[in-house]
Amino acid sequence: MALKLSVIGTGYLGATHAACMSSLGFEVIGFDTEVSKIELLSKGKVPFYEPGLEELLSEQIRSGRLSFTTNINDLADCDVHFICVGTPQVKGGNAADLTYVNSALESIAKLVKAGGLVVGKSTVPVGTATRLRSKLIELNPKADLAWNPEFLREGFAVEDTLKPNRLVVGVVSDSAEKILKEVYASNLKENTPWVRADLPTSELVKVAANSFLATKISFINAMAEICEAADGDVTVLAKAIGYDPRIGSRFLQAGIGFGGGCLPKDIRAFMARAEELGAKQAVEFLKEIDAINLRARQRIIELVRKDLSDNLQGKKVAILGAAFKPDSDDVRDSPALDIAVQIQAAGAIVTVHDPKAITNAQKRFPVLNFSTEINDTLKDAEIVLHLTEWKIYRDIDPVKVKSLVKNAIMIDGRNALDRQLWRSAGWKFRALGRSNNE
Ligand code: UGA
Repeated sequence: MALKLSVIGTGYLGATHAACMSSLGFEVIGFDTEVSKIELLSKGKVPFYEPGLEELLSEQIRSGRLSFTTNINDLADCDVHFICVGTPQVKGGNAADLTYVNSALESIAKLVKAGGLVVGKSTVPVGTATRLRSKLIELNPKADLAWNPEFLREGFAVEDTLKPNRLVVGVVSDSAEKILKEVYASNLKENTPWVRADLPTSELVKVAANSFLATKISFINAMAEICEAADGDVTVLAKAIGYDPRIGSRFLQAGIGFGGGCLPKDIRAFMARAEELGAKQAVEFLKEIDAINLRARQRIIELVRKDLSDNLQGKKVAILGAAFKPDSDDVRDSPALDIAVQIQAAGAIVTVHDPKAITNAQKRFPVLNFSTEINDTLKDAEIVLHLTEWKIYRDIDPVKVKSLVKNAIMIDGRNALDRQLWRSAGWKFRALGRSNNE
């Protein structure tokens, strides 16, 4: 008989995992303590923007295989329980807050059937899985725990979950691996690489991967700083080094840097955990990665100041983009919003446009003005900043919108617009890591 699965925590990770597992034919029940979230999900509605997820979710609910609950006891007849709760940065520190992971484990422990498996998917500091496994076995000796980190990207969550580029399973027992092979049978059939690891290695794979990605982005942003100093062009440099397959061209997009709910907090939690382990020096470089990343936000504000004669007081600034990246409505640690807030605090009158993230952005920063229309955002602007590379912004015709603004100055914080096109339409065009001489 097919396994019955539960998913504990129905945020980006959990809601996607639940819908995708159901689409593979499993019966799945999603659990969350937040009543409003469960009410929405039960109606086939996704409480955040993720391309393709809502369609999949409602289709799976209609199939009868997928349901949601706020009652943990409804999970009692499941064979495998995935823990997908968040591990945010603790307030006032760098470490990960494990409150939700700990309480998920404690609430499910006694309900796990004999031979049942708890599978952690949340990003946790190394050592957590071993501790949780001991706790689980103490509360329920017939249960087991494995770790199975998730590498999905927001904006591609469904695709990444259904077709992951690798599956990593941290297990202690062969029986745990066997159950996970049953869960991921369809991926194995398609030859998705399968990496069996011990528990600590599986936890480390996740933070190592995110640290590497963050390092790649900060590396190219450091090169952008050098290009600015030496009158070079970081976009050409990135293209040229990217042709070397050992380097690769992805994640070399210079600009205002990384944000979101993962990369920034994960590198900080990694540093905090390494220090606890007495291995602080090994990841000390991540402090520099973080600093380069935050510096990019200041560098763009410097460009704005230069073009506005160092006086932002009362100046109308139009900002295109609020989400931390395109195809997402997530504004957690969004570089775009951070820049908007800092410019507003310096006295400017800022209007922010985003096709999907305005509701979330407004909740976080009610002091900013928001607009759902690009043209209204640009109206009378004394400078325009492109901070999240949504496709709709690349489709703007610089000739058409020139008459809307007061000063035709575009600052491209993502190196994603066509400089030639904007310049030939008569705009001053600035970008990070490129010569800003006309
Ligand atoms: C990241 C990882 O890419 C996923 O593999 C991982 O599963 C996820 O974190 C997680 O830990 O849950 P995500 O946060 O969705 O995924 O976003 P990314 O696509 O990695 O982008 C992160 C940030 O880097 C964005 O702000 C993006 O604008 C920025 N970025 C990305 C750049 O500035 N330059 C680049 O070249 C690429």
